[in-house]
Amino acid sequence: MRLPVDKPLFITFEGMDGSGKTTQMHRLAARLRSMGRTVLETAEPGGPPIAMKIRRILLDAANQELSPVAEILLYFASRAQNVDEWISPALSRGEIVLSDRFTDSSLVYQGGGRNLGADAVAALERIACRGLKPDLTLLVDVDAESSLARARARNAAAPHCETRLDDESIEFHRAVWHAYHALAAAEPKRVKIVDGRTDIDTIERAVWQIVSAYV
Ligand code: TYD
Repeated sequence: MRLPVDKPLFITFEGMDGSGKTTQMHRLAARLRSMGRTVLETAEPGGPPIAMKIRRILLDAANQELSPVAEILLYFASRAQNVDEWISPALSRGEIVLSDRFTDSSLVYQGGGRNLGADAVAALERIACRGLKPDLTLLVDVDAESSLARARARNAAAPHCETRLDDESIEFHRAVWHAYHALAAAEPKRVKIVDGRTDIDTIERAVWQIVSAYV
């Protein structure tokens, strides 16, 4: 007799740097595990070891010459490895996968912020993800100014070299914010906005109110 397999679920967290989405993702993972579900947590760029090596190139503050096209290809290279090695196998096992960023980040940062356009992102998505889309995307929303201030404060408190995108201008971050909101307006069924300006517990409750309908 075959054991019943849990329904797989793929949820992504999106938002500006410093939006608090990572904390929220960990809290959601803990809650789902306490309910007996198996949860894979991943974060992009990154995930499996090869994708983590690509991450180091992408976020290295020394790589200021990285061209926009090389940059988007590397994000999708990291994603392809994450999809093939971690995400798709976990979903096939009926697990819940939570990803801190996914293709939507490429759409807003490279497609919008760097002006490479949505078509380039869609073409690469077909190759790297082969139709894999999140069932649900939580957009933890903070404005560009607070995002940049939080990211810079974080870097000042714990200096590290992964600051290449935090070093971008406020205009770049505003373009990203607008691209996120355009995405949420275009795909309201999948992309749900959560107000990221309140306290952690309030945001967690808002996240759970949305996710509980899916599990
Ligand atoms: P990270 O240190 O993981 O920050 P965060 O906590 O904000 O996720 O850095 C990831 C950076 O990479 C972030 O500035 C957004 C950027 N990024 C893209 O530009 N395109 C992408 O496809 C992804 C996944 C991330």
